[in-house]
Amino acid sequence: ADIDLQAVHDTLVSVAFEAGRMILAANPSKISTDTKLNAVDIVTETDQAVERMVTARLREAHPTFAFVGEETYQPGVTRVTDAPTFIVDPIDGTTNFVHSFPNACISLGVAVGRRSVVGVVYNPFQDLLYTGIKGKGSYMQRNASLEEGKGLGEKVRLPLGGENPTALGDLSSALVSIEWGSQRDGENFDVKVKAFQKLAASKESGGGMVGGLRSLGSAALNLCACAAGQLDLYWEGGCYAWDVAAGWCILNEAGGIMVSGNPGAWETELDSRVYLAVRGASGGQKELVEEFWNIIGD
Ligand code: IPD
Repeated sequence: ADIDLQAVHDTLVSVAFEAGRMILAANPSKISTDTKLNAVDIVTETDQAVERMVTARLREAHPTFAFVGEETYQPGVTRVTDAPTFIVDPIDGTTNFVHSFPNACISLGVAVGRRSVVGVVYNPFQDLLYTGIKGKGSYMQRNASLEEGKGLGEKVRLPLGGENPTALGDLSSALVSIEWGSQRDGENFDVKVKAFQKLAASKESGGGMVGGLRSLGSAALNLCACAAGQLDLYWEGGCYAWDVAAGWCILNEAGGIMVSGNPGAWETELDSRVYLAVRGASGGQKELVEEFWNIIGD
């Protein structure tokens, strides 16, 4: 049977506001924190409590959907299949949350046939909501929860500034988000650090001379910023499907594209773990991707 994506979206928005209240009510200096991969890969009791609430609410509302969540993920066991699947990061930007740095969100995605078809990303610290439904566009709403119960207030269609976003130029005019992630050694880490250096370096020294490089600490919010047209590119290796599932649909519906973060692949998968997002533009997307791949490649 056809899935009513609008109904699923509406459920996710109300769950996102409930998660937002839990996140705002938590006192980061008092909650207990645990580590996963290493000392910088952290999880708090709030991440876990939010995921429990989200699981319960979504299982009740849409019992036939599969569920993939960051805090219940089991390596080698949990997979994104073709089935309709909720893909959830209870707090994306946990390190920011722990420091009360207000760039963190709940990220709620839905995949069907392993493609993102609904995305809801909510930053409770700024009461900022991003949503997207496949084929119906994506939106940003400020003061989002104030409108709750009264029906949603005015939503601004993405990208900001209208349907005809400017063309992309080369890397030296681009604002690019890159993330360090939590893996801090090994081959992938070395590749990443070299790539960061090449992106920043002057053209004379073989680099991309990127206009600006940022690391804001939330994959989902990076994708939303690309969707909004505030960032030109976002590149990360090492994050997971729950970091990108919601933002992917929001990005696509705003004319943005997601390609592989490894040079060469225009088509990429939710669980490929290496991503390059490009904002919507009236030209220059492919050229910028190729320039980026050239710089980070050997
Ligand atoms: C992390 C953030 C961060 C990214 C990491 C993610 P979390 O998510 O999105 O920006 O660099 O790869 O794991 O752990 O805060 O949910």
